[in-house]
Amino acid sequence: MHDFKYKNNELYCEAVKLSDIAKKVSTPFYLYSYNTLLGHFHKIEKAFKALKPIICYSMKANSNLSLCRALVQAGSGLDIVSGGELYKALLVGCQPKRIVYASVGKTEEEIRQAIAKQILFFNVESLPELELINKVAGDLGVTASVALRINPDVEPKTHSYITTGKLTNKFGIDFDTAYAILRRKDSLSHLRFNGLHIHIGSQIIQAQPYLLAIKKILGFIQKLKRNAIQIEYLNIGGGLGIIYNKEKPQTADEFAKKVIPLLKNTGLRIILEPGRFIAGNAGILAAKILYIKKTPLKNFVITDAGMNDLIRPSLYGAYHEILPVRLKTIERKPEAKYDVVGPICESGDFFAKDRHLKNIAEGDILAIMSAGAYGFSMASNYNCRLRPPEVMVKGNRFYLTRKRESYLDLVRKDVIPEFLK
Ligand code: LLP
Repeated sequence: MHDFKYKNNELYCEAVKLSDIAKKVSTPFYLYSYNTLLGHFHKIEKAFKALKPIICYSMKANSNLSLCRALVQAGSGLDIVSGGELYKALLVGCQPKRIVYASVGKTEEEIRQAIAKQILFFNVESLPELELINKVAGDLGVTASVALRINPDVEPKTHSYITTGKLTNKFGIDFDTAYAILRRKDSLSHLRFNGLHIHIGSQIIQAQPYLLAIKKILGFIQKLKRNAIQIEYLNIGGGLGIIYNKEKPQTADEFAKKVIPLLKNTGLRIILEPGRFIAGNAGILAAKILYIKKTPLKNFVITDAGMNDLIRPSLYGAYHEILPVRLKTIERKPEAKYDVVGPICESGDFFAKDRHLKNIAEGDILAIMSAGAYGFSMASNYNCRLRPPEVMVKGNRFYLTRKRESYLDLVRKDVIPEFLK
């Protein structure tokens, strides 16, 4: 499943000891395994081979340039949500015709840039957005390609913050509105309606909600066909769940086996946009234990990484496994329960609550697992903390793919007005 494994009581990433990387780059740091990353990409590619889909890795999961470049080199397209992601997508050499662009709040400037670069299409999330894209394309004297993002009103059984395919969510367009738009599509003369898109949520561990959403949209496509409206692309989104703890998510193969029969003879060109499935278990966050603090009620492990580096436990109550980088064979301390926390001045700053950890001591390094997706990409400088470096292992070598920030990075964009000088 991933290439972070113990050998002789040392945690390795592929063929490199995590403790060796810590010596070289210091802590905290994010670490990605090239082999795991590509392995997950190929797993999806293989599972869905019968459909020959375009796989557009969802950059929001992790937009580290080297990581994205590795995927683009392996044949991935990219799913983007902002001008910034478009900029990075082009920088890593992604062909514009392999870029799809979702987001409920694209600005006019972002729309203009994406049209100018001739991306494959926008996943359009509302009528006013569609009208703006039509206007901008008209101003530029071109035709813009669009897919309507449909909100299929399906319950994906995941955390409410990352549920996106219910009508109470801000995402996508309901079937009736989409139908009305497509009936009058010729009035939007600067648009080419290329397809439909669904993305019902993230960390979905069962196939059933997907299948329901896909069936609903296929029914809709049939209705369009009867009304002489042809759809070329169907983007079935991302959202495939991974193992953080004891979940048993469907594998790519199991998922594909259920999805392929629905889509096989439809003549539709299929797009997938997984993020977490590809990057999640390909990365960890390494942190050092600064202090072990005992209070009358609790034991705290205080690390040099905080919620600003990995916000998932604080924000979603997410579980991340925590492993010592070195296993100690001589039993010195009995197993005890700890809250693993960061240095940030908030009680919400934790990685784990009441976690059993064995034989740990100050100075030890911990690996917070499954931090490859929505780790660095959601990191901040809160408390004026420097964002950690990102390292990638390939085989028996490791490479710095992003430097640790400096104090200068913290103030680079600040401007002190004259009157305060
Ligand atoms: N496509 C669209 C339109 C999306 O909004 C997303 C994720 C994806 C694809 C990729 O989803 P994935 O395959 O990674 O599940 N920060 C949260 C996850 C937010 C997901 C947002 N959208 C977390 O840490 O769990």
